[in-house]
This record gives sequence, C-alpha cells and structure tokens, in this order.
Amino acid sequence: MAGCRSWVFFLTVCAASLFGANAEIKVTIPVGKLFTYELLRETFQNDFEPLSKLYAGRLYDDPMIFKCNRQNFPDLPEWLRFTQRHPYDNGFLYGTPVSPGKSIIEIYAINKRTYEAARQILVIKITAEEMLPYQAEFFIELREIEKVLPSSVQDEIKQDLQKLWDTEALEIVNITNALDRGGRVPLPLAGHFEGVYVKVGSEQYFSDCLLSATTPEHERQCKTGAKVKVPGGCNFCSIPSNCITWCKTELFDLTQLTPPPPPPTMGSGILAEGGEFDPPESPPSRDFLPDYIVTVIVPLIIAIILCILLAYIMFGRREGVEKRNARTNQIQLYHHHTIHGNTDELRNMAGNRSTPPPLSTLPMFNSRTGDRAPPLQSDSPSIPLIMAQHDPYSDTLPRK
Ligand SMILES: *[C@@H]1O[C@H](CO)[C@@H](O)[C@H](O)[C@H]1NC(C)=O
Repeated sequence: MAGCRSWVFFLTVCAASLFGANAEIKVTIPVGKLFTYELLRETFQNDFEPLSKLYAGRLYDDPMIFKCNRQNFPDLPEWLRFTQRHPYDNGFLYGTPVSPGKSIIEIYAINKRTYEAARQILVIKITAEEMLPYQAEFFIELREIEKVLPSSVQDEIKQDLQKLWDTEALEIVNITNALDRGGRVPLPLAGHFEGVYVKVGSEQYFSDCLLSATTPEHERQCKTGAKVKVPGGCNFCSIPSNCITWCKTELFDLTQLTPPPPPPTMGSGILAEGGEFDPPESPPSRDFLPDYIVTVIVPLIIAIILCILLAYIMFGRREGVEKRNARTNQIQLYHHHTIHGNTDELRNMAGNRSTPPPLSTLPMFNSRTGDRAPPLQSDSPSIPLIMAQHDPYSDTLPRK
C-alpha cells in the first residue's frame, strides 16, 4: 500500500542501574498519531524485589500507584495523559502530540505494600509529520479507556474500522475517555461503561458507509431518538463491546478546512525611539483655603461665641445666683435647728423614765411563768452548756 506508513518505535533500554531502578527508555513517535505506553507492574515489581527472592520463586503481586510528570515540571505535557484504574492494574500514558519536540517524562512507581519507590525515565522524541487528511471519530459506548488502550484491543478496533473505511491504511489518531468530553460517570453496575471516543485517520477518502452516516436523513433519524438503522452492509463489528454508536460518528475532512486566520502581529515590546520620555503633566494645584475656612474657621468662631455667651450667663449675672444661694442657706439653717430641737426633746423624755425597764429586756426571763433565772456565771465550768429543757406545755395541757 502506498499510504502505508512505517513509523517505528525505538524502544531502547539505555541505562539500567544494578537493580534496574533507574531505567531510561527512549521512544520516537510522529506528530498526530496516538501514543500509548503501558506502565507494567511486573517490570516495577522486579525493581522492588531483591534478586534472591525472584529466584526463590516468591514473587509478590504488590499494589502499585504511579506518579508521572515532565522532568523538572509538576505536571505532564499538555498532550499526554495518564490513567490507572486500580493499584492492581497497569497504568497507561497516552495522548497525541501536536508539535514536534522532545519530552522527558519521569515515572515514579510506589509500592503500596512496602512503600518503596522506583523511578523510570521515558524520553519521548516527537518527529514532524503531515496530519492525515481524512479523519473520523467514533464513539464506543461499551468500553472504558483502560480496556481500549492495550495494543491488542486497539488492533481489534482498528480492524473493524478498516473494513468500514474499506482501506488498510488507517491509523488511530486519538483515544479519549468520554468523561473528558463531558460524559457522565456511569452507575456502578454491570453493563454501564464510561464510553470512549476513537479517532482514526487515513490518506484515503471516506467510504460510502461512512458517508451514509452523515446524510441528512440519517441525522434526522438520530434526532428522533428512534432505533437507527445501520446502513446496509456496513455493520462490521465483530466483538459486541467494540461496536460503534452510529449517531455519534463524525467525519473531518482536513483538506476542506479554511486556514486559520493569521495571528495578530505582535510588537517587539520595546517603545519606539521617540526622543526623551515626557512624563504627563501633574494635575493643576488646588486652592484649599475656602475649604479650610468652611470646615475649621467658621465652626471655631461659632464655638468661641457660644463659649462667651455661656460664660456671661454663668458668671456675669452674679446677682441672681447670690439671691438663690441665700435662700438655700436659710432653708438649711432651719433644718439644722429643728433636728437639734428634736434630739433634745428625745433626750429629755429618756431622762424622765422612772419606771423599771420592761422585764422582757432582762436576761433569762421566762415570758410565760415570769420566773427570773439567776444570772448565769458563764465562767463556771460546772454549768452544762445546754441546760435541761423544761417542758413548757406539761402543766398547762388539760388532763383527762
Ligand atoms: C485528542 O483528544 C483530546 C481530548 O478530546 C483533545 O484535547 C486533543 O486535542 C486531541 N488531539 C488531537 C491531536 O486531536
């Protein structure tokens, strides 16, 4: 075939330290074609295990996670994606480069059992190549990205599409997780998948089968949501899970593309030679005197006037104040006099008392019997602290 491309992966393990922990792998890939690199857990498992254990026949199957980034950068290049479904699954680096260059990718594998880490360097050299002029994108509903990326599955899908396109010269251009294109996370049930977009390209023009998927009649059928009839003789899917969704098929004819508008011309970023820099004039100076008068001087004058007025009322009109003071003094004197008189009167009355003081004021007086107890000699130790209680009711209660 004339259009058959011979692009080769140069996989060379260049340097490997004694335990193979720092392997460097070199890959050369062309622009505009899908690149897939599988991070095999077995390879890293070998790095983690001492050789003696390998030969003793005890090989662990450890859970592993991978961290990938461009060397000296926190993230991967824009075109490259990483996916790993589960620590017991292999990881994948995949993507389609769009411009030539070189990317150095650091891959760290972390063993989730022992927490050891291994490092690998992947050097990706991207060579320039023409984009395939005719491209088509298909949606495979019953797939997940990790299940499609292994090369055997890619080949199965490609074979079906080669029949559909009626050409051998077909390359996979891009594979995308539908979740990255606004797809929904499926229910965690059997028979529900995320879905995958597969884009293929060829030098050869689209087949009749492909063109029939873009007829207005077909599009109308798709819009109604009814069961879409696959154009006669075009159903080439050999494995049910690889079947494409006809209504999501899109064709891209890159030869018909209008060239993108020229980018805006950029200046050099340096000011044109125009003599000396002339700073803009400072704004005209403002006169702040009226503002000063209104906000400071006028309130100050008013305050002074009020002060003077108050001072006049307080001290200038002394006459009224004195009169009032005199009256107040008179009232106070009168009060003083009456208090004095009352006290004298009470003293006289107290002095005139000739009757003995009421019994209830004497100590140890029994209010009911009128008995008087001898005064207590509280110093004597013979007297008990608590005296025997005399029952006050014993002789007054009527006897039966
Ligand atoms: C591949 O697909 C991804 C996701 O849709 C997109 O961002 C990227 O531009 C595509 N690459 C090419 C070369 O079409």
